[in-house]
Amino acid sequence: MPRQVFGFSDAEALAAFAAQEFVRRAAAAIRERGVFRVALAGGQTPRRTHEALTRPPLRNRVDWTSVQFFFGDERAVPPDHPDSNFNAARLALLDQLPLHASQVHRLAGERGDLDGAAREYAADLGRSFGVPQGPNPPRFDLVFLGMGKDGHTASLFPFTEALGEARAWVVRNEVPQLDTTRLTFTYPVLNAALAVLFMVSGHDKAEALERVLEGPPNLQQFPAQGVKPDAGDLIWLVDEAAAGRLRETPASPPSL
Ligand code: 6PG
Repeated sequence: MPRQVFGFSDAEALAAFAAQEFVRRAAAAIRERGVFRVALAGGQTPRRTHEALTRPPLRNRVDWTSVQFFFGDERAVPPDHPDSNFNAARLALLDQLPLHASQVHRLAGERGDLDGAAREYAADLGRSFGVPQGPNPPRFDLVFLGMGKDGHTASLFPFTEALGEARAWVVRNEVPQLDTTRLTFTYPVLNAALAVLFMVSGHDKAEALERVLEGPPNLQQFPAQGVKPDAGDLIWLVDEAAAGRLRETPASPPSL
């Protein structure tokens, strides 16, 4: 499936489309398979999308009992820490929905043994998707991703070890440039997804976005380039500020 890049006037319009795409894909997955498995992105960009999903009309268009929430990465902090991706999603989305605890699969960033936390999360993925550990990763219905101004995505940062991981689904990743350690999905899981939706907003992302979308392949320098679903949809949602250096004008989004 070729990459699609849709442009939006601002972060609000981008978030509204992303939320509608969540609803559309959730309805289709639940209709076809009885469940919608989605991985949320970290950082600040997803907040508007998360909030839009908790408000009518979108809130009322999802069978929330059939949604399973996962996280594409997590910082090495407790779940109530201001830097926690889980905490951000809990406040803006998860706590506002009628969910059972079993529907939310949290990456245990607080654990001292992050390799163990990664292995346990991978085992949870296997159970949730009904797939054995091995070369065939779970296939998410939808994976949301952001992109940092250095071109990272999830916690796949430039020149870090996780970029080379070709088998494990979830790993601990040392990030020297931030002097920290993260938990992150790897390319095998991301590229097995039925759909990946990048959300990129703001002037500070413009240089990286140009390099990722229009520059020569350089996955170590710009890890977001490595997300190319084998058979799924790859959709970039970018606002005007982030798209300011692109030679190719993003397409107008389809009406949903
Ligand atoms: C994280 C995210 C990361 C994020 C980008 C963009 O844990 O930080 O998973 O990949 O999506 O850094 O972050 P913003 O949306 O805050 O710009």
